[in-house]
Amino acid sequence: MTRSPKPIRKAVLPVAGLGTRFLPATKAVPKEMLTVVDRPVLQHVVDEARAAGIEHFVFVTGRNKGVIEDHFDNQFELEATLSSRGKKKELEALERDLPGAGQTSFTRQQAPLGLGHAVWCAREIIGNEPFALLLPDMIHHGTEPCLAEMIAAYNETGGNLVAVAPVPEDQTHQYGIVGVQDAAAKVSQITSMVEKPKQGTAPSNLHITGRYILQPEIFGLLENQTHGAGGEIQLTDSMLRLMADASQPFHAVRFDGTIYDCGSKLGFLTANVALALEREDLGADFRREITQLLAKK
Ligand code: UTP
Repeated sequence: MTRSPKPIRKAVLPVAGLGTRFLPATKAVPKEMLTVVDRPVLQHVVDEARAAGIEHFVFVTGRNKGVIEDHFDNQFELEATLSSRGKKKELEALERDLPGAGQTSFTRQQAPLGLGHAVWCAREIIGNEPFALLLPDMIHHGTEPCLAEMIAAYNETGGNLVAVAPVPEDQTHQYGIVGVQDAAAKVSQITSMVEKPKQGTAPSNLHITGRYILQPEIFGLLENQTHGAGGEIQLTDSMLRLMADASQPFHAVRFDGTIYDCGSKLGFLTANVALALEREDLGADFRREITQLLAKK
């Protein structure tokens, strides 16, 4: 009988970036708290992680991000007011969204030195177990939660996994790209990985979408990782070393749903329109408004 790999119980959500692409909105409001329809982007991503069975959420925050901590806590005054006004439905919805007591941890990245550095800041809370990493500005929207598909794959493969999706060939230089054994397969072994390859040199058109399952050995590599592209501590550099030096298996899991990059204005606006159109309480009216708007052009 094959031994099942250690379960994935914890997830890291790095939220310490500056969000410069969204200034001035992000001067005082974290970009992860901007709303897609009526939920912060970050809540959409926490929902995905909870649906995948994650039990503990580690937020790597920074300066001016205190509102994130408040969002994942009870708001007694608000709840008392809703209760006294008989707003049972709203109260229940707030309750549903909240991780349980003791299921959240917050640590600070004192300076935004890069994604790799943000992940390293979570090392003491994660400890010696594999964990999920979700980039909170990427909404993965599909019939199955992306992280749930990855954990199902992990239970077969063990090791490290990244979610991937195809991008147009002429855009590969903007992404982290992986080469795989079988590009058509749902789960395939990764053969190479490169951050923002020069045009025409990418090993495939499969980009890393912002969902990872990583073994704790990554922390030791991040600890002495030198600054990479953009002067930042890059996660991809340490993943490459985990693959090469530590000979750890890496698999890619193809995500077949739609990905909205809510860190970019275009992705954020598209996510708002797409998710609003799908809403039972809003979709029909919103479609009518949009149709009228487009007809004026
Ligand atoms: P991004 O590079 O998309 O976020 O990082 P950013 O730096 O905030 O955005 P721009 O480019 O200035 O607009 C992806 C995720 O990683 C986090 C960000 O908060 C974001 O959710 N991150 C990034 C950190 O936590 N620390 C960092 O040093 C860098």
